Amino acid sequence: MPDQKFATLAVHAGQEPDPLTGAVNVPVYLSSTFELTGIGTDKGWDYSRAGNPTRDRLETALAALEGGFSGHAFTSGMAAISALVAPLRAGDHLICTHNVYGGTARLFNLYIQHYGIELQYLDMRDLAKLEASIKPNTRLIHVETPTNPLMVLADIKAICEIAHARGVEVSVDNTFLSPALQNPIALGADIVMHSTTKFLNGHSDGIGGALIGSRPEHKDRFLLVQKAAGGIMSPFECYLVLRGIRTLPLRMKAHEENGRAVAEFLSTHPKVKRVNYPGLPDHPQHELAKTQQRGFGSMLSFDIGKQEAAGKFLAAIKLFLNAESLGGVESLASHSATTTHAALSDAERAEVGITEGIIRLSMGIEDKDDLIADLEQALAAV
Ligand SMILES: Cc1ncc(COP(=O)(O)O)c(C=O)c1O
Repeated sequence: MPDQKFATLAVHAGQEPDPLTGAVNVPVYLSSTFELTGIGTDKGWDYSRAGNPTRDRLETALAALEGGFSGHAFTSGMAAISALVAPLRAGDHLICTHNVYGGTARLFNLYIQHYGIELQYLDMRDLAKLEASIKPNTRLIHVETPTNPLMVLADIKAICEIAHARGVEVSVDNTFLSPALQNPIALGADIVMHSTTKFLNGHSDGIGGALIGSRPEHKDRFLLVQKAAGGIMSPFECYLVLRGIRTLPLRMKAHEENGRAVAEFLSTHPKVKRVNYPGLPDHPQHELAKTQQRGFGSMLSFDIGKQEAAGKFLAAIKLFLNAESLGGVESLASHSATTTHAALSDAERAEVGITEGIIRLSMGIEDKDDLIADLEQALAAV
């Protein structure tokens, strides 16, 4: 069969009928342990921390959607990032996008660097600085693109070329776009990371994360972390993500349409100071977005001035919910400085540009006219 297209993979990869019963949905194997066939022999599984048939299906699906060699499902996006950096050793140098998701910075700042790992945040737009920052002990460059919430892009291909010339691996947090809109491995990345909590699950009813490796050595590495550290996704959550993946291409089309419409509306509104959405022609990285992404997605942020104005706006929204997270079918609005980036100090937030009036929107799949009407009435109340 020729290579299948993304929408076909979303429905079928890892989701073949159950060989035992013919069930068209992947069964949820709620079993911690498996009967062995002898000493040192089994039917493919022995203990669910090391491997579970439902998780295997999801991991196969994730690898197929990202064009990787192996998928690895974890109990949250943060557990996936913990597993990503678990193999680093004291003395290693880790470079990370400077306005990365606040939870990632919290993990790196409060734990990882105390393990003797040298941590450096960089604005990934400055490729010369990135190249100059790579040292003999640099092991990993962790890139988030687009960033949360400022929607700053990193040129994945260019970063990978610089990193690979020096033998350094690149991991990309692809949460904001999902594999429907961006495939970092095709652009040269070694490892892709997802918070499956977001678009992959898509229904705001679970927490999960994933790593997708591009080479056999990544499979060995992350299987070992799963088994040794144990932050694995539960079979039921795997089922929910598999179910979400089947409609991912359709949902992303609807998310994207709403993202574009809302960005255009906000960009002309007098009370909005700045809209950060790579789909707008005046976004400084609009051209890069067009080349490395297959769409602009449904995440954006805008600046409404003072925190008081942000508070009034959030109190006035009716259809959008004032809630953290993103990527679900329902539209959400959140105040970045006090939610996703509360873990940063005032100085750290100022340094990356997360001002007190920044509101992040995650457009769901409702009708765009209703979303715009809600934003219009909420802005009138500011
Ligand atoms: C870009 C990004 N990466 C990682 C995470 C962490 O994922 P989780 O909340 O599933 O642990 C988040 C959560 O918001 C995120 O937005």
